[in-house]
Amino acid sequence: MYVCVCNALRESDIREAARQYPAASPEELYEELGAMPDCGTCLVFAKHVMDDEQVRAEQDRHAVVP
Ligand code: FES
Repeated sequence: MYVCVCNALRESDIREAARQYPAASPEELYEELGAMPDCGTCLVFAKHVMDDEQVRAEQDRHAVVP
């Protein structure tokens, strides 16, 4: 699924980058991906995906390995 149509950024791109740059804003994350916001309509959703990925990363850190 595309998060940003203007830059052809997929949800998986955003999630992967969010793990590498956990403190980044959406604009900073796009820059790390070699992109920059154009219309800007994706930024709120991108931030939601980034925040969700941080929750997942935190859950992974606390996962119990049998
Ligand atoms: S959809 Fe992301 S900048 Fe337009």
